[in-house]
Amino acid sequence: MVSVEQERDLATFRSVLEVWSDAVRSNYEAIARYTGRPVMAVLKSDAYGLGLGLIYSALRDLAPPWIGVANPWEGVRLRRLGYRGRVLVLSGFLPEEVPLLAQWSLTPAVYDVQQLSWLWHGRVDPTPFAFHLKVDTGMGRLGVLWDRVDEFTGHLRRFPGLVPEGVFSNLACADRPEDPLTPLQVERFREVCRFLQDEGWPVGWRHLANSAAIHYWPDAWMDLVRPGLSLYGWTPPGSRLGLTMAVRWWARVLQVRHLPAGWTVGYGARCRLDSDRWVAVIGVGYFDGYDRRFSPQAYMLSRRGERLPVLGTISMDMTVVGVGSPSSVRPGEPVLLLGEWQGQRIDLGDVAAWAQTAPHEVLSRLGPRVSRRVVRDAGGFWPLWDQLHA
Ligand SMILES: Cc1ncc(COP(=O)(O)O)c(C=O)c1O
Repeated sequence: MVSVEQERDLATFRSVLEVWSDAVRSNYEAIARYTGRPVMAVLKSDAYGLGLGLIYSALRDLAPPWIGVANPWEGVRLRRLGYRGRVLVLSGFLPEEVPLLAQWSLTPAVYDVQQLSWLWHGRVDPTPFAFHLKVDTGMGRLGVLWDRVDEFTGHLRRFPGLVPEGVFSNLACADRPEDPLTPLQVERFREVCRFLQDEGWPVGWRHLANSAAIHYWPDAWMDLVRPGLSLYGWTPPGSRLGLTMAVRWWARVLQVRHLPAGWTVGYGARCRLDSDRWVAVIGVGYFDGYDRRFSPQAYMLSRRGERLPVLGTISMDMTVVGVGSPSSVRPGEPVLLLGEWQGQRIDLGDVAAWAQTAPHEVLSRLGPRVSRRVVRDAGGFWPLWDQLHA
């Protein structure tokens, strides 16, 4: 049964992102099995732009023990969705946000002595308040420098209600399997953990591993792993952990037309056709996150599996692709921009490489106009689509 809303949405969208909820769940479970560790689902930044509510509802039944968010307000959103497990606020907090942390039981990252006094003075009651100490082992972003943790704990003794129940750090180069910085960071982190233990701090959660480290660096798994991207199936080359691509991005054909040899396509007239050519104009552009930098390597796939190369500069709302014949695609029909369809795949890593960026950026830059939909099986929205467009 098709609801009125589904019908209206499917009938009018230009671009749709399907999130296959079973695949998100099975990726989470596969990571837990492979590492043998509890898993913190990193759902910060609106679950990398896919929609916090949508991804949380996919994971809800698995009751993740931890969820990572960027700031306290994202933690509040998660609580309002009904999540009762532990929430780690990875990118810290500002003084005026301390009441939120207490009120919504959010665990902050602490990386500065000043934050201790903000927490101390902003607490609403005297019960012990837990935080995770964030250590800089080589990322050079937030974090107490790994060889200055003794200074930090010296200050911490003045705040007896503040309890460091966890310690964590970020790996800068975990996606490069040969990079010597990762073992160095792991060793620095271990040294910090040894120090905290010797000093008697009750640090029960030690964690370092993002998705890349889950795939490449078992030494970094520690007490908890923190995947974001791999929840959606991202798998780097050579990994032994098999995951399922959970996202698929489509956009619709606006027009199929014939252009003569010598004609140019798009802003800047950068693409000149050397022969007559059939092209399709697709209703997606950089406003939707189909990045201008994707061209000229980018391609799309027709529903029947034909490879459609992007021609010329990508515009704000439109992209032109080459098609083999006037019947390759029909106006109104969706073509695949990212993901797997009937054995063919446009890989997230490849799409990121077209723009010389990280796969995280590709997902988190999807624009507000892209309709995000949960789908229940590999057939996705096509059965409903076919029913509506029969
Ligand atoms: C502290 C921290 N841990 C884990 C992650 C998850 O990273 P990934 O999506 O590469 O798994 C992030 C994301 O950037 C992060 O900031």
